[in-house]
Amino acid sequence: MKSDQLFAKAKKILPGGVNSPVRFYEPYPFFATSALGSKLTTADHQIYLDYCMGYGAMILGHGYSSVIEAVRSQLDKGTLFCVPTESEIKLAEMICQVVPCGEMARLVNTGSEATMHAIRLARAFTKRKGVIKFEGGYHGAHDYVLVKAGSGMASLPASEGTLDEASAHTKVVPYNNPAELERAIEKNRDTACVITEPVLANIGLVLPEKGYLNEVRKITEQNDIILIFDEVVTGFRLALGGASEFFGLMPDLVTFAKALGNGLPIAAIAGKKEIMNKLAPAGSVYQASTFAGNPVSVAAGIATLETLTEAKNTIYPRIAKTCDSIVGGIKDILTRAQLDCTVNSIGSMFQLFFTSERVKDQSGAKKANAKMFRKLFDELLKQDIFIPPSQFETCFLSYAHTEDDADKTIEAYDKAFREIKK
Ligand SMILES: Cc1ncc(COP(=O)(O)O)c(C=O)c1O
Repeated sequence: MKSDQLFAKAKKILPGGVNSPVRFYEPYPFFATSALGSKLTTADHQIYLDYCMGYGAMILGHGYSSVIEAVRSQLDKGTLFCVPTESEIKLAEMICQVVPCGEMARLVNTGSEATMHAIRLARAFTKRKGVIKFEGGYHGAHDYVLVKAGSGMASLPASEGTLDEASAHTKVVPYNNPAELERAIEKNRDTACVITEPVLANIGLVLPEKGYLNEVRKITEQNDIILIFDEVVTGFRLALGGASEFFGLMPDLVTFAKALGNGLPIAAIAGKKEIMNKLAPAGSVYQASTFAGNPVSVAAGIATLETLTEAKNTIYPRIAKTCDSIVGGIKDILTRAQLDCTVNSIGSMFQLFFTSERVKDQSGAKKANAKMFRKLFDELLKQDIFIPPSQFETCFLSYAHTEDDADKTIEAYDKAFREIKK
């Protein structure tokens, strides 16, 4: 069956035809049948060069052999035990070895679960209630943080069904504005934690200004507030030790998901021992899950981190170089075409905004012309390039993306811009 037929069928049984809202775009999304390396194959027998890459999860590329082998081998041994395994210790040790503030880790399943419990931990540790997040920051779909959030929520006012009471203690301040953060803390002396994506990746890609994250660390430290880096996107991607390593910073808690399992569902909370030890059964903060430490996901996590650790001096510079080639190529074309666009990029991530202004926060991202972005998406798709369909997401490269892929991508952007200008 082709994608249009599959979507018609899906709508009858899956609300909106998809299992996560960001997967939908008009008139219907293509359906995938397989993926390998940097490419996705569809039900329509198209092969797309993928820049969505599981919204950042596929750091090593689709079907990376050592990860697949580890998963296969674990399948023969068992898929769920719900008693501890030695592999869970190994993965937690590997995480803590590379993550600067990692003294202990708890394995969970999704990013939402990780941030929800990291916030609960911060509240229990400080005996305070308040949470500060940043405009456009996305930390999952739970009530504590679904306020002025990015990703699929960027274009929606709020989600029905969430409790105002649950987010009553959540304050939202603009990103890249330390003075506003200080003011919010002064006004809310009950603040337990500041949670931030170190690099905003769910409102397009927005980078911290020079010294900004150091300021956030300084302000939170001075006020005895727990700093949570939500590294669900940046973890093991920006550097082996994530954004903490990249920017040389020590948050108190860090959350991971995506790249940790290179496509298998796994997430983690890591951080300082005195805070982590508050988790039950060591402490009195309840967090539990049937699938936590699932042996198949853990096997994928170990294989992913082994590869990233062993080859970090090759992998990270190579992905960044390929990303730089693409971004450099796009910027050259934009200059020649005299198009008012801004391209933000860091490491293996980039995003383009149809605005001439610098995009350094949510309000800047929202000023960009989203209709033009949608045209870009359509034009790129016609040339077999798949980027996330929304302006408020980020394009991701993997270790599998080659310089040839980069050349093809630059050519496709060139042609797409010419079509858009027509
Ligand atoms: C920064 C960030 N935090 C948390 C989440 C939620 O993760 P999950 O979708 O695994 O629940 C996401 C998902 O995109 C994310 O980008």
